[in-house]
Amino acid sequence: MAHDFMPGLAGVPAAKSAISDVDGQRGVLEYRGIRVEDLCANSSFLETSYLLLFGHLPVEQDLSRFVDDVTHHRRIKFKIIDLIKCLPETGHPMDALQAAVAALGMFYPGRNVEDLDNNYWSAVRLIAKVPTIVAAVARMRHGDDHVPPRDHLGFAANFLAMLFDQEPPKVWAHILDVCLILHAEHTMNASTFAGLVTASTLADPYTVVASSIGALKGPLHGGANEEVVQMLREIGRPSRVRAYVDEKLKNKGKLMGFGHRVYKVKDPRAVILQRLCEQLFAEFGPSPLYEIAVELEKVAADYLDAKQIYPNVDFYSGIIYDKMGIDMELFTPIFAVARVAGWLAHWLEQLRENRLFRPEQIYAGEHNRPYVPIDQRR
Ligand code: ACO
Repeated sequence: MAHDFMPGLAGVPAAKSAISDVDGQRGVLEYRGIRVEDLCANSSFLETSYLLLFGHLPVEQDLSRFVDDVTHHRRIKFKIIDLIKCLPETGHPMDALQAAVAALGMFYPGRNVEDLDNNYWSAVRLIAKVPTIVAAVARMRHGDDHVPPRDHLGFAANFLAMLFDQEPPKVWAHILDVCLILHAEHTMNASTFAGLVTASTLADPYTVVASSIGALKGPLHGGANEEVVQMLREIGRPSRVRAYVDEKLKNKGKLMGFGHRVYKVKDPRAVILQRLCEQLFAEFGPSPLYEIAVELEKVAADYLDAKQIYPNVDFYSGIIYDKMGIDMELFTPIFAVARVAGWLAHWLEQLRENRLFRPEQIYAGEHNRPYVPIDQRR
């Protein structure tokens, strides 16, 4: 059967899924049918993770068991800590995270993906341990000791405490928790698709998540949040925004944190993240990066409105993390801390009706070429 080639598989469904949905025209994002705005206002990252994994909001008893399970699996083995210690400080934390998650799989049984009970514990372990790994990588690349998790703290507060070795202000923990909800899932994006391809081979979930982490790293996907802050720093002040945009677009460059394959309006996650910026800066003082970003959004509209290109999720998130004093290179790993929930939800869904991904290609090369001996080649 002949098929049209769609570069980037744009418009080609790769799965049937009941996990999340995007209406790119209206700017609506739902997880399991619930609008992300409602989840940000009322839920927590762990409750949202439960919703994504199991398809419904948990009753109190189930939520408390899930939160306890995650809380009690946050620690990482000393061999994983040693492994992280051995990695070069100059390496990107996303690479360290990918290596450590792949290594995690060697410590836990996960190969029999038909064992539903074991799948639950794999999901719990990954959601629990990825933040600990990210914090350990962040500290050890600067020569600091790993800070173990603190069981009395919630998910986001504990992550910040492991990062800074001190308990964060409540508002920071709340804002980070909302950021994690916003990054937890987003339909058939590149990293989810990468994970699904791996899942379809019946590989274990640690390998699935390691595949997704690799795909998330790139600057066209999760890596854009780091690039946004780099760009804002390069611009330096609001008065230089127009000249920067002129120059960039004249040379066919892209503004990082703008544009999306699906959204034709401003990404609803960017709207919420911008509100979080304002909440954070009202209490903890202004951020020069935010002022540049707001001006950039205004100026970019003159050029990009016609193409329906608007800020995406990566545009404002880094500004929040920067204000909290988090290193730029940790922005994408923090994205991964959240997206693990979505990746695992897709992994479990894929297993229910698995078929190996094996797409076709359109061969564009030659046939019947002679093998030329090496001394006759030119
Ligand atoms: N700045 C300027 N122009 C842009 C931008 C941008 N950020 N994004 C797209 N365009 C333009 C392209 O130059 C192109 O113009 P043309 O038709 O005149 O040649 C047109 O819009 C279509 O762009 P594509 O790259 O083909 O669109 P695609 O759907 O493949 O790309 C993508 C989506 C990769 C996100 C793109 O918008 C981009 O590169 N953005 C910057 C990186 C970024 O922010 N990535 C994060 C996305 S969200 C996430 O993954 C979590």
